[in-house]
Amino acid sequence: MRTQVAIIGSGPSGLLLGQLLTNAGIDNVVIDRVSKDYILGRVRAGVLEEGMVGLLDSAGAGGRMHAEGLPHEGVLLAFDGQDHRIDLLGLTDKRVMVYGQTEVTHDLMDKREATGGVTIYDAGNVTPHGFAGDQPYVTYEMDGATHRIDCDFIAGCDGYHGISRKSVPESAIKTFEKVYPFGWLGILADVPPVSHELIYANHPRGFALCSMRSETRSRYYIQCALDERIEDWSDDRFYDELRRRLPSAHAEAMVTGPSFEKSIAPLRSFVAEPMRFGKLFLVGDAAHIVPPTGAKGLNLAASDVHYLFEGLQEFYGERSTAGIDAYSPRALKRVWKAERFSWSMTMMLHRFPDTEGFGQKIQEAELDYLVHSTAASTALAENYVGLPY
Ligand code: FAD
Ligand code: DHB
Repeated sequence: MRTQVAIIGSGPSGLLLGQLLTNAGIDNVVIDRVSKDYILGRVRAGVLEEGMVGLLDSAGAGGRMHAEGLPHEGVLLAFDGQDHRIDLLGLTDKRVMVYGQTEVTHDLMDKREATGGVTIYDAGNVTPHGFAGDQPYVTYEMDGATHRIDCDFIAGCDGYHGISRKSVPESAIKTFEKVYPFGWLGILADVPPVSHELIYANHPRGFALCSMRSETRSRYYIQCALDERIEDWSDDRFYDELRRRLPSAHAEAMVTGPSFEKSIAPLRSFVAEPMRFGKLFLVGDAAHIVPPTGAKGLNLAASDVHYLFEGLQEFYGERSTAGIDAYSPRALKRVWKAERFSWSMTMMLHRFPDTEGFGQKIQEAELDYLVHSTAASTALAENYVGLPY
């Protein structure tokens, strides 16, 4: 088989890139190692920046998001028993859209099917080859045979554990990493959200986040130790702990009900540089990870797609390599700003094993400064709604 762009990974970055390319008349094939149902079973991000909303619209996959998503104009920071509202719209003239990653993926898969895009699921041993030269190709195994896709470019959209980054010689890549000494225990439950805006809570017992997927579905998280076991967390224990970390008005108003998803995610900051190796581009989580506190992971994947799509469109439209040559430096500039923001939100809102004294006082001073200074609130709001592409 031959295509113009072989895309490894059918997560949001692979599907979004594929759809923008298809719409622009650039042939592409998406290959994933797991099934469509498995991908749709993942519960991850929930907050979309306006830039990502715009990209989904350009992909022609934004209809259901506008009908069912929840535009949010502010977020609440809770500490010291009180809420403090950050007026995102007033400070930046921008909103965010609360719409789950699972739904984004679903909409992109539907659009791909409707426009005849080829996706190969359940592919074994997917491997990129020849990207240092002029004839890159991807191989995969299926039904006992090895298949080959020749292409002009390979987009590695295969997440943190994918094969694309691992295929690059170690000497060609530099990585930066910070691992945090805690995780997030999250649940999904069909109960009305405790607040119509998201609550990010700093509490002596640890961080908590109250988010949602709709007016009737809540997504709640609490900071937990890395060695916690899901089996030890009944729904009652989870809700009790969450309520303890919220201002009393929210704790008392909280409606509880059985969870239908419960998982623990570790927190990590990670960047691989550069994001291009000859004819191979790394996109999204394949190149970088942020701790989820700033809601940036999915949005960064989208901005990478934007830069790469522009570069590929320029290459096929004008035979110019300027856009693809600029991909890695352009994407990394924005990546590092989101890394900085996600790290700073994580540091400000969580309990660290060593936050007893000095660190805790610094957090309190930072939060107090943040909510009483328009300059500081604006800086947070500007990053939260998303820096320009
Ligand atoms: P992915 O979504 O990881 O997609 C990669 C795809 O590549 C997958 O379909 C995978 O099956 C496929 N793949 C992997 N390896 C191979 C291979 N060898 N061959 C072929 N295909 C392969 N962000 C937030 O903003 N808020 C959150 O609350 C949040 N929670 C998260 C929780 C978890 C557990 C994780 C892992 C991430 C979370 N994120 C969150 C981050 C956000 O979900 C990611 O940034 C986003 O999924 C990145 O999209 P992607 O398409 O780059 O990668
Ligand atoms: C959600 C996750 C986040 O990490 C975040 O900062 C906000 C919302 C969510 O899953 O809804």
